[in-house]
Amino acid sequence: MVDAETIENSGMSIDVDKIRNFEVRSDDIFVLTYPKSGTTWMKEVVPLVMNGGDIDAINKVPPDVRAPYIEFVISPNQPGMSGVTTYFGLPEGFDLNTQPSPRIIVSHLRPEFLPTQIEEKVALKVIYVARNPKDVAVSTFHFVQKELPLINKKLYDSFSDFLPDFMNASNGTQTVIHDGSTWPKHVLTWWNKRLEPNVFFVTFEEMKRDLAGSVSKLAKFLEKELDDDVVKKIADHCSFESMKKNPAARKNDYCVNVLKVDPAEASPFVRKGKVGGWKAVFSMADNEKFDQGYTEWLKGSDFHAEFEI
Ligand code: A3P
Repeated sequence: MVDAETIENSGMSIDVDKIRNFEVRSDDIFVLTYPKSGTTWMKEVVPLVMNGGDIDAINKVPPDVRAPYIEFVISPNQPGMSGVTTYFGLPEGFDLNTQPSPRIIVSHLRPEFLPTQIEEKVALKVIYVARNPKDVAVSTFHFVQKELPLINKKLYDSFSDFLPDFMNASNGTQTVIHDGSTWPKHVLTWWNKRLEPNVFFVTFEEMKRDLAGSVSKLAKFLEKELDDDVVKKIADHCSFESMKKNPAARKNDYCVNVLKVDPAEASPFVRKGKVGGWKAVFSMADNEKFDQGYTEWLKGSDFHAEFEI
């Protein structure tokens, strides 16, 4: 159960009870991620797997409508977010409860804030995408620097200045990444559940190494039979190069109207898309500190992040 102190400490202003009590269906598909771990990417892949690779069909519906974030739909008035869900393409009064099945529902929320029924519904599927935390930290830094002005907070002077806050999920990161959870808590919870039959745990790095292979495994998990040419078509459409050119995937409206950045150049949703990009950003001292923290985080776990491929 979530106690008041946990919510208080999270710095969250979302309506936890409403989300906890959300009526889940047995055929729902939940896409869960720690922020900046490949959510946008998986949001493009899953609808295509589900519809047999019909790109025209998915292009008719904005990504945040075909795969909405439960935390924004149920609780849209978060700091800096008031009204901005319209730029996600969500119509006024959009109601997740009346969306047709199978719904694809996305969330960054930590497990204890998710709908309780996720644990209870038998056929419900959870797709979890994890990414190595050094690249997550860099990606989060770029994102946070764009989002902080929206909540009237000061920008970080440097990545080194930001990194301790990322590791503790504190200060700016706490509100901007929505519920203040730390990377290991989020990832390890789902890593520990990865062998449950309704959980599909995949990493950003695996997808980067072999997207078609990941699409194929995901299709099996979602009980969809896809021919090899359809798998290839999905992988081509969801490649970084293709998504970088895709205005909907980049969230053009949100970039232009809310973040005030050029989406082609600076969308934080489809930015560099690399594994190992952290090496150009971390100083030696950052890396040392991070490695110490990382060793602590993973003590007793058999999870190993891939920091390069
Ligand atoms: P970078 O900031 O490192 O470039 P999220 O969607 O969870 O916010 O994650 C965003 C990260 O996923 C960004 O990482 C973005 O570039 C990357 N990304 C989005 N689409 C991608 C794709 N098709 N291939 C590889 N990376 C992708």
